[in-house]
Order: sequence, then C-alpha cells, then structure tokens
Amino acid sequence: MHAATDPHPAPAPLSALRAGGLTGRLRPPGDKSVSHRALILGLLCVGETAIEGLLEGEDVLRTAEACRALGARVVRHGEGAWRVNGAGLGSLLSPSETLDFGNAGTGSRLMMGVVGGHAVTARFDGDASLRKRPMRRILDPLTLQGARVLEQQEGGRLPLVLQGTSEPLPIEYTTPVASAQIKSAVLLAGLNSPGRTTVIEREASRDHTEKMLTHFGAQVRVEPFEAHGRRIVLEGRPNLRPAPVSVPADPSSAAFPLAAALIVPGSDILIESVMTNPLRCGLIATLLEMGADIVEENRRGEGGEEVADLRVRHSPKLRGVEVPAARAPSMIDEYPILAVVASFASGETIMRGLSELRVKESDRLAAIAAGLKANGVDCTIEGDDLFVRGGAVKGGATVETHLDHRIAMSFLVMGLAAREAVTVDDAAMIATSFPGFRALMEQLGARFA
Ligand code: S3P
Repeated sequence: MHAATDPHPAPAPLSALRAGGLTGRLRPPGDKSVSHRALILGLLCVGETAIEGLLEGEDVLRTAEACRALGARVVRHGEGAWRVNGAGLGSLLSPSETLDFGNAGTGSRLMMGVVGGHAVTARFDGDASLRKRPMRRILDPLTLQGARVLEQQEGGRLPLVLQGTSEPLPIEYTTPVASAQIKSAVLLAGLNSPGRTTVIEREASRDHTEKMLTHFGAQVRVEPFEAHGRRIVLEGRPNLRPAPVSVPADPSSAAFPLAAALIVPGSDILIESVMTNPLRCGLIATLLEMGADIVEENRRGEGGEEVADLRVRHSPKLRGVEVPAARAPSMIDEYPILAVVASFASGETIMRGLSELRVKESDRLAAIAAGLKANGVDCTIEGDDLFVRGGAVKGGATVETHLDHRIAMSFLVMGLAAREAVTVDDAAMIATSFPGFRALMEQLGARFA
C-alpha cells in the first residue's frame, strides 16, 4: 500500500473573498460514511458489489486501498462508479504492508474492526493528525472480542499492530461515548463471531453500518434503549451477499455551500440529493430554529436512505439559539460551520456538550475558537460548551487548520461574507472529503485567491 504518509506535506494556503450572491444548483459529493462502509461490506462479500456515487476523496481512497490489501479486487469504472470483488467474511489476507489511512479516522477505525474479527495481522498508520487521535476506544472492545494489540504508541495511538481472531467472542458492549465509529468497529468484528454481538449506545449515533449490514443480508435488530439510545443486536456469521449501493450526497459536505448561501447577501441555491437521515440532520434543525430559509423539496428514497433537494436563500435575520448536548451526535461534524453561521447571527449561540470535538481531525473546539477570535468574533469556551456572540464579521486573518478539512472549509465560507478576506493556512486537506469544493463553490459565484 502507500508508503507511510509524509507527516509534513507542503501547505497550500487559500483565501476567500467577499462574494456577491451565490446562485445555481449543485450536487455535493457522495457521503463519506456511506462510501467507507460500501467498500468494506464489498470486501466482506463473495461476488461483485457495484457502487455508484462513491466519494472519491482521499479518505475513501485509502479505505479502497486497504480493501485491496486485505484481499479484495477494487476497480473504478467511471466517476463514482466502483466494483468490489470481495474476499468474503472469514477469508481475508494479512496485508504485506502497512495500512496507511492518511487523515481518515473512520476508515482506520472501521477497518480495525474488520481486522480484529479475522485471523489476520495488520499494521495501521496515518498522517500527523491521525497519529494524534485516540484509538484505545476501538482497541478496548476489540480486545474483549479476542483481538490482540501487538504494538501501539502511547495512549493507544498509531502506528499500531493489531492481530485479529478467527473466533471473535460474542459480547455485549456499551459505548462510552456516542460514536458510530466505535459501534461500527464492534459490529464489524462481531460479523465473524459464531454468536451474537450486542452494542448499546445511550445516545443514538449515525446508523449507516446497521442499515448497510441489513442491505447486505445480515440479521440486525435495532431496539430503543432508554430515552435517546439504541440497542443493536447482530447475529454472527451471516451469509452476506453483494448488494448495489447508490451513495447519496453528503450532508456534512452540503453544509458548506448551504451555510455560505445563508450568510452571503443575494444568495439563492439548490443543493441536490442530500441525505436527510435523521441521525445526520441536527445542523438543519438548528439552522431552522435560527431563522434560516431552507426548504426541503422533492423528498424521496435513494439507495436505502432518504434524500431531498435543499433550496437555500440568504437569511438576513438569523438569531442565536441554544443547541442542546443531546443533538451533538446528529451534527458532530457540523459545529465548525455552525459556529461560522452563528458569527453572522444576532445574539448569542450556545453549543453544549462538545467534548468529542476535541478528538476529531484536530482539536476542533480550540481551532474554532482561535479562528473566530482571529477574525474579530466574540466567543468563549466554558467547559465543553462554546458561546458565540454574532454580528458583522471583520475577517482579515489567517486561520490555522491543523490538517483539518472541515476547519479549512468553514473559515473559507466565513471569508465569503466577512468584511475582509479570510485565509486558511492549508486548503490541501479539503481533498480528503470534498475534492471539488473550490470548483463547485466558484460555479455558484464564490471567489478565492
Ligand atoms: C463517522 C462518525 C463520526 C464522525 C466521522 C464519521 C462515521 O465520528 O465524526 O466524521 O462514519 O462513523 P465518531 O463516531 O467518532 O463520533
């Protein structure tokens, strides 16, 4: 596979300039979560899985590469059109080289689940950002299932070597934080268990793994647990069969043009085929409460998920709201861009319960606050809560992105509506999740330099 990622690639700064109204229509790239899972389920089936609309961002390409290293044939037939000929559940190969996941937390953690439930040994590595992220949350349950961690860095960090087991133990596991990545790793390891694997989450997190396992023929039972949680029960060793996957547009990527249209005067855009899975829609709910002009049109089912087109217009009367901690799992990746929108709203926006933001591609809580302050926005962090007091945004500063694609895109969106240009120190990471970001935004009328 890849040689270990260069931890210090050359940065590519980019500035966003105040824009006239954004207009037109766009289809954001395929959903990142669904794309990773489609490839992985393809790996675990015997036969050919056809995927349409796959996100061809760097993160997902790393997962494709890892699937090859574990024994699948993965071929690109055209834009977003991929075919996976899987090795099959129980029949994976030990990769001969390090699995280098670059910047991809989801790819690496889900694949640890796959490896943990098979008689293979693999070395996992990634870029400087991924090497800082906690993996113990994944390794702990996998160890209970029978996997062994042969090497790891301090605090359970990459690079690490994981030895899986051919007989994963059936376990019942309660995730310590609301995390679809932890849940998915346990379920993927449990697939090859002779028994039943149960995951309990106190707050429901995105459910793409459960949905896709069902789509590929596994028996998965999902029940409510307490007020906001779920219990997911998977029967081991299912007869997985290839199933076509059509990947809807990523709501977490749609969030950037959507936010830009809300804050740039004169904007009126249509964002097509956005996934509206309720466990991904916290941002839209919050923006509607703030007074955003967003209308869902043409709601329909596509590839097992609900999608809709979103008509978004400039919304001059946005006002601050309080976002409850319970909403965090359904918009966990959207706080950077929400904080930018809140900077343009009147009054205070309070975002509660953001501890998980500290362990994303960067410490996003710190990165958001630093970027806002540098650009003249009044904000504070108290405990795990972020307070943003909005108004006219001065801009004019350079924001440190810390290898974080969403910090980069969020502050570029800020620059489209701030009085002065906003610069990000490195826009290269945007390619991990939204390779066409700049071109699509420019088509709508955005200006970058
Ligand atoms: C993801 C889950 C979330 C999210 C990430 C994608 C997934 O992480 O932040 O971008 O596809 O399962 P956590 O599960 O760690 O919260």
